[in-house]
Amino acid sequence: MSQTSDRLDTNDMRIPRILSVANQKGGVGKTTTSVNLATALSAIGQKVLLVDLDPQGNASTGLGIRRAGLRSSTYDVVFDDADVIETAQTTRVPNLDVLPSSIHLSGAEVELVNLERREFRLIEALRVPMPYDYIIIDCPPSLSLLTLNALIASDAVIVPLQCEFYALEGLSHLVKTIERVQKNFNDGLEIHGVVLTMFDRRNRLSSQVEDDVRAHFGERVYQSVIPRNVRLSEAPSHGLPAIIYDMQCPGARAYIALAREVLKREKELIGKAQLKESL
Ligand SMILES: Nc1ncnc2c1ncn2[C@@H]1O[C@H](COP(=O)(O)OP(=O)(O)O)[C@@H](O)[C@H]1O
Ligand SMILES: [Mg+2]
Repeated sequence: MSQTSDRLDTNDMRIPRILSVANQKGGVGKTTTSVNLATALSAIGQKVLLVDLDPQGNASTGLGIRRAGLRSSTYDVVFDDADVIETAQTTRVPNLDVLPSSIHLSGAEVELVNLERREFRLIEALRVPMPYDYIIIDCPPSLSLLTLNALIASDAVIVPLQCEFYALEGLSHLVKTIERVQKNFNDGLEIHGVVLTMFDRRNRLSSQVEDDVRAHFGERVYQSVIPRNVRLSEAPSHGLPAIIYDMQCPGARAYIALAREVLKREKELIGKAQLKESL
């Protein structure tokens, strides 16, 4: 029986908004952002499913999921048409479920190449009526077929950027990939925003990176900046989002502010999408 069936109201279905958290660089804060943004959105009253699309499964373990005992995972959803609602696991956060990843996903690239409709596996699984308002996808650190699947399935992309010297390097590649997806597969895809992570106020470099990124992306950069905060890195080892582990820590507060900003921007993006549809 599904872990979620007691809690989810399957009469309460709608097409969820789908947001991918992507950057092909590793260690920039994708998973930390996915987990804490998803938690903050659920705390604000949204029903959220976090899709762990990284074979490393840090989002799953960070939410307290023990991956060893799982019967099905994101892999089975992508490859075997496993049911998303059946596969989703509850977490200790009310209104937040996770579609856990498994190590099988590490072979996904090679396996996907030979699959029919290989770019559309995720959109076909996710863009259907669901008992969720939001699906947040934690992408792997590459611009692989899995990430392509995520971008094609998404309404918008959130790009975490670590405040370090090479922050902007590789970003043009990501932007080009997003543009290619817009042109060929998903003309509704938006860059939701760029979120600066691991910001260190005492380090002048952090401020320089912030200035550069704001000069380049303007309004697209969220006002909320995520500080470097050890509580954010400790929380996953307790199987908890930082927002639950220590609600008052600066990192948790920053993610709550980010979630508010994301929802505010959502109103504009949803309005824009509806207008486009009506034309
Ligand atoms: N704002 C932050 N302050 C301190 N540590 C952070 C912060 N954001 C992420 N980390 C830590 O940095 C590492 C990489 O972050 P992670 O979110 O896993 O990146 P990614 O998913 O992009 O690889 C992890 O150990 C994480 O706990
Ligand atoms: Mg990660």
